[in-house]
Amino acid sequence: MIKLLLNGLYPCPDIVAEVMMDEGGQAKSVLDLGSGSGAWCLDVAKQFPHAQVIGVNITPNSQKTHSHNCRFETWDINQGLSPFYGQFDLVHMRFVHSLVDHHTSTLKAIRCLKPGGLILFLKAGPEVTEDRTTLIPAASSRMPDQSWYQRFWAC
Ligand SMILES: C[S@@+](CC[C@H](N)C(=O)[O-])C[C@H]1O[C@@H](n2cnc3c(N)ncnc32)[C@H](O)[C@@H]1O
Repeated sequence: MIKLLLNGLYPCPDIVAEVMMDEGGQAKSVLDLGSGSGAWCLDVAKQFPHAQVIGVNITPNSQKTHSHNCRFETWDINQGLSPFYGQFDLVHMRFVHSLVDHHTSTLKAIRCLKPGGLILFLKAGPEVTEDRTTLIPAASSRMPDQSWYQRFWAC
């Protein structure tokens, strides 16, 4: 579903292509923070077979699929990211909401980049719209006919 919405694995494919462009045989490296199922890592590893992709998640990865250029590490982002500093051309962080301090974690994620690297943050918004522009208000006891889904996200 996300791939359909993004029309691919990430937004701004032109910028990603530029960052991932082969520069004289030096392998590019990709870090996915909060990699979840690992599906994104495996897709990116397939798309860039000469790159090394690492997925990091607080729980061990249970992917049955293996790839020569993709591995997973179990790590709590709240512990900091110093083991990953300065090593990646592309850092990806999608829908990782449950961090103790999002701002600090974001700054640490940026420090995982090599000079000239690119970081992609994707956050899901709670907005529920009727026609993609008109926001449906959150339901309440006074407005029970509005969106309970919106209310859930607001809470
Ligand atoms: C909503 S899922 C998103 C998964 C994936 N990024 C995606 O977009 O499909 C959030 C993921 O972040 C992981 N996560 C949450 N807190 C974390 C933390 N402190 N350190 C590492 N991973 C964490 C969860 O285990 C989960 O796999």
